[in-house]
Amino acid sequence: MKILITGGAGFIGSHVVRRFVRNYPDYKIYNLDALTYAGNLENISDIEHEPNYAFIKADITDAAAITAIFKEHAFDGVIHLAAESHVDRSITDPLAFVNTNVLGTLNLLNAFKEVWAGNFDGKLFYHVSTDEVYGTLGAEGLFTETTPYSPNSPYSASKAASDHFVRAYGETYGMPFVLTNCSNNYGPNHFPEKLIPLFINNIIQNKPLPVYGDGNYTRDWLFVKDHAVAIDLVFHKGKNHQTYNIGGFNEWKNIDLVKLLCVIMDEKLGREKGTSEKLITYVKDRPGHDLRYAIDASKINKELGWEPSVTFEEGLDFTVNWFLDNHDWLKNVTSGEYLKYYEKQYSHGV
Ligand code: NAD
Ligand code: DAU
Repeated sequence: MKILITGGAGFIGSHVVRRFVRNYPDYKIYNLDALTYAGNLENISDIEHEPNYAFIKADITDAAAITAIFKEHAFDGVIHLAAESHVDRSITDPLAFVNTNVLGTLNLLNAFKEVWAGNFDGKLFYHVSTDEVYGTLGAEGLFTETTPYSPNSPYSASKAASDHFVRAYGETYGMPFVLTNCSNNYGPNHFPEKLIPLFINNIIQNKPLPVYGDGNYTRDWLFVKDHAVAIDLVFHKGKNHQTYNIGGFNEWKNIDLVKLLCVIMDEKLGREKGTSEKLITYVKDRPGHDLRYAIDASKINKELGWEPSVTFEEGLDFTVNWFLDNHDWLKNVTSGEYLKYYEKQYSHGV
């Protein structure tokens, strides 16, 4: 079986690639990635010499290149994670998100369709998506697989559009697909533009912790390796043309999470209790900021037996240790372009 994983040099993709390379020696795993600011081959350096692994540097927005790659390798399965993934960046540059997330996905769908020319026996297109396509919840309720789409940011609108195209190719051309919508991931290799790794990095450096608005926004956090397990299960056992929600059963208000992180970091860094909390700085809110995400993951639990394997406390402890132990990784990804991004994004109020 030849499997193409896109975005495998990124945060979640690197964990998925590693899992597939290690667990399925009979598969050949092709990792296709453009190596944007978020893509980093260091994330998967431990498996780069494995005989069942190959890296392809390519941009999914380049239709001709993608078609040629599909013709050369005739992949049996695709697990598509490559995307522009940061909401704040989508607010300043929506078109980049349409290009990669919508047009890039279409290029993959077209290439898959062309290569298999209607004979899809044993083939699968797996599209990895987000809970943000459902919009926002109020104080009550959970997102289920039948919650209507109502995206509020350019990022989530682009992911919603790509989800619709995947489904449409399934209905129109009979293309076998599965789709998952997952909540907020955290863990090793998380790029420090997102809340948890950004704040870990800022605490290490004694820099302000920019909490958007009043901090009373809620997210449902899942350890990234548990997401990779879910992807493995859905790829192998998920039902054709089905969507599965994936979540951590683990809701946290941002401000509570940040305070917990401050306590953990003070302990790990041997700082006096309360030191990191003093870095909390309330800043201008994110425009169109979704109040609350929370996933009902009972379908994947009942049908495929999946559930998170670690508690948030265990996962966060592991994650903080990873960032403290991988100082060079953190230093490498927070130099150059990152500094310019940081200055622009946080120029107001921090
Ligand atoms: P990430 O930003 O860390 O990684 C994205 C990867 O895609 C990078 O390696 C990047 O180089 C690559 N990429 C970007 N544009 C590309 C292009 N045009 N061609 C080829 N490669 C390109 O993202 P992530 O957080 O790992 O998210 C992976 C996927 O999971 C995304 O589709 C995202 O929407 C989805 N998702 C993320 C989360 C989360 O909490 N991070 C939650 C649910 C779903
Ligand atoms: O829900 C899944 C989504 O989770 C994924 O689809 C996205 O790719 C991923 O980036 C993530 O989106 P969020 O916008 O929820 O994640 P982020 O880490 O950017 O922000 C988490 C919360 O923290 C959100 O309420 C905004 C807030 N925040 C974030 C940053 C970067 C702050 O208060 N300050 C910050 O500096």
